[in-house]
Amino acid sequence: MFSAQSNVIVGLEIGTSKVCAVVGEIGAGGAPNIIGVGQARSRGVRKGEISEPELAEEDIRNAIVEAEQMANVEIRNVYLGVTGNHVRGFNNRGVHPVVSADREITDEDVQDVIKNAKAINLPPESGIIHTIRQLFYVDGHHGIPNPVGMFGARMEVDVHVVQGNVNRLKNSIRAVKSLHLEVDEIIFNGLASSLAMLTNEQKELGALVIDMGGGTTEYCVYADGVIKHTGVLAVGGDHISNDLAYGLKVPLGRAEQLKFDHGSALVEESIRGRQIELPGEVGLPAKTINLEHLRRIISLRLAETFLLIEQEIAERGLLDYLRAGVFLCGGCARVPGIQRLLENTFMLTAQLGKMSAISGLSPALDQPEFATGIGLVKIGSLQHKRKTTGGFAENIKKSIAEFFRR
Ligand SMILES: Nc1ncnc2c1ncn2[C@@H]1O[C@H](COP(=O)(O)OP(=O)(O)OP(=O)(O)O)[C@@H](O)[C@H]1O
Ligand SMILES: [Mg+2]
Repeated sequence: MFSAQSNVIVGLEIGTSKVCAVVGEIGAGGAPNIIGVGQARSRGVRKGEISEPELAEEDIRNAIVEAEQMANVEIRNVYLGVTGNHVRGFNNRGVHPVVSADREITDEDVQDVIKNAKAINLPPESGIIHTIRQLFYVDGHHGIPNPVGMFGARMEVDVHVVQGNVNRLKNSIRAVKSLHLEVDEIIFNGLASSLAMLTNEQKELGALVIDMGGGTTEYCVYADGVIKHTGVLAVGGDHISNDLAYGLKVPLGRAEQLKFDHGSALVEESIRGRQIELPGEVGLPAKTINLEHLRRIISLRLAETFLLIEQEIAERGLLDYLRAGVFLCGGCARVPGIQRLLENTFMLTAQLGKMSAISGLSPALDQPEFATGIGLVKIGSLQHKRKTTGGFAENIKKSIAEFFRR
């Protein structure tokens, strides 16, 4: 039996393709050192949400046990990643009059204006997952990161709110709790991945992070150091396999294998006319596949997904802010040629998979599929730092907002 350690943070992603538990140990400086990862093939999740709880629980248990063995610790709590097409991000503004006689803005004023920004009329089944502060206005002057100590009569703040369907979020939480694990906090997968991928400088310059997994694609836009937009599409690499099965008239298993062995996001002139010979197997006749056709199917699905994201970002006027470019993680970052496809779609530089925002990550763990789990550990490590330096709950909430902001 391992011992539980208070300086251990665990991130858990219950993904469509794999369940993944990442274990981080907080070092002396407060930064996490990744000491273990456990993975299990996911069988009870569709489009990022649990559809077969019993299978999901078994897979979670297996991933947790593997992570415990690798890290040599007992896991009791997790930061739980959540996603699904019910998750939405939008911006809201709060207003607050500064009431003190001398009009000096205090910490309480900041709390109040954020509280006002959170007062949103949501449908009864909706719940707020995150309220992330962006920038403040003082008497109409915009772009103020922290107004405490300034003088003014009227204060406003923009926040980015991530909301989801409470019942659907509860399904993930219950699966974790059924294994006698506590949920420290739920975090939107897209935010977690963006924290693993981006440095503060890149957030400041402006960046788009896309996490394209098996059943969902999350994205997150930073501009001027703050989160401006988040979203989820219920499309992932599994849809590419489905398209291939349908388009090439092969069973899904064969389509998946063809994607791994011959897939590319680019259809180059040089492959024109090339054929792939599939040998006959039990119950399956031999078949000839046109490689150009195969790659065109992949390329079309990927381009369509990226274009949907591009349109959404363009509609919000955010494309011109992405000066650090586009960053892709999730298993689909492994598709050959996908970097070029991203660059062609967004007309921006694109980077794949590397977790530049985490120091000391071994190459074995620096894999695009682990971005969510690693980002969850990063968030957890900040929370841990606040708790151990004597912060109260509200301080913790505040700090997480600051963390996303810078
Ligand atoms: N080399 C590769 N070529 C093509 N596709 C790949 C490759 N490696 C992984 N994938 C695809 O990546 C997807 C899995 O990615 P990932 O592990 O990030 O998903 P997930 O986190 O479990 O799912 P989600 O986040 O959507 O719930 C699968 O569709 C898989 O086929
Ligand atoms: Mg994922």
